[in-house]
Amino acid sequence: MGLPTPSAAALAFSAALGDLLVREIDAAGGWIGFDRFMDLALYAPAKGYYSGGAHKFGAQGDFVTAPELGPIFAQTLAAQVAQLLELSSPQIIEVGAGSGQLAADLLRELEWRGRLPDSYAILELSGELQARQHQAIGAQAPHLLSRVHWLERLPERFDGLVLANEVLDAMPVHLLVWTPTGLAERGVAVDHGRFAWVDRPASGRLLEQGLALAAACEMPSDYLSEVSLTARAWVAEWAARLGRGALLLIDYGFPRREYYHPQRSSGTLMCHYRHHAHAEPFYLPGLQDITAHVDFTAIVESGCQAGLELLGYSTQSSFLFNCGLGEVLARTPASDARRYLPLASAANKLVSPAEMGELFKVIALGRGISEPLLGFVSGDRSATL
Ligand SMILES: C[S@@+](CC[C@H](N)C(=O)[O-])C[C@H]1O[C@@H](n2cnc3c(N)ncnc32)[C@H](O)[C@@H]1O
Repeated sequence: MGLPTPSAAALAFSAALGDLLVREIDAAGGWIGFDRFMDLALYAPAKGYYSGGAHKFGAQGDFVTAPELGPIFAQTLAAQVAQLLELSSPQIIEVGAGSGQLAADLLRELEWRGRLPDSYAILELSGELQARQHQAIGAQAPHLLSRVHWLERLPERFDGLVLANEVLDAMPVHLLVWTPTGLAERGVAVDHGRFAWVDRPASGRLLEQGLALAAACEMPSDYLSEVSLTARAWVAEWAARLGRGALLLIDYGFPRREYYHPQRSSGTLMCHYRHHAHAEPFYLPGLQDITAHVDFTAIVESGCQAGLELLGYSTQSSFLFNCGLGEVLARTPASDARRYLPLASAANKLVSPAEMGELFKVIALGRGISEPLLGFVSGDRSATL
């Protein structure tokens, strides 16, 4: 595939995860669903991509997320965060905080706006990332570190804002094939020492979802795509715990009719290794990210069935402009080119339709919030569910 060559240590790390995956497949009788493969490849304790020591974020890593582009993302998002805290309770839980950059920038910006939350909790699966987040916030906002704490699990009840940037796309997905003879789950076996795709008849909840999707979307035959039962369950779990407040989720993806478009016949699964994107999840497990786009219709369905209300859905571009991206940029004079140019370049990446502006969406689901949310006050036609 022409990807950069990993070091010997990285290859050994990947081989250890490969052994664990093979043992898991053997123990399961020779086959596991792709959701299990993805879960272990990303989150197996100390061995997975997120739970192990891979660099992951930023220019030196495998991919760049919005908070890694510079503080302008958090500074703009802060307008919506401040409004939601005001309408609910001054508490934030950030889920999947990555390098900790969004937390550090958001806390500093909320302080600048005089809208600091009483507490900023982080719910992060990876122990390695928890340590990195602590270090990053301690280095960049040491006086605010006492407001930050890490959660082991979802709280029983929570009032305030639950924030997650690029977390839904990192949740394990099932692979489903719609064939003329029925629905098959695509999973992973081992053949002559290598991982191999093997299909089995789909059953249970996955079969149910697949049939519902076929009725709604009319897939052509031999159509492969993902179904994220994990993301659905995660939203429902939050819905059961949220009192007055909102989930604000930012990610790349589409509404259902676009996600399961007849022409998208091999799904959206993507892997990222040192800024190269490809579609081979068996390549060096543990060294590369594995992601799937988000079916936002499924997220809304799951939240609303569990009693939440859809508060807003928009492209990232429209959301950030509504939140005052222009005003945040204008804080730095254009004549100060050394500071202004990197900010303008980051802003452009965040909103450009050719980059993150349209593929990325922002969705708010909540309870007990009746005011219109400022990030969604004026919309665009490309973001309808
Ligand atoms: C693609 S990274 C995004 C990191 C960060 N939010 C950013 O924008 O740079 C995905 C993050 O979500 C975390 N994660 C995935 N599923 C999670 C879950 N169910 N609960 C908590 N963290 C999760 C991963 O460990 C990782 O930190």
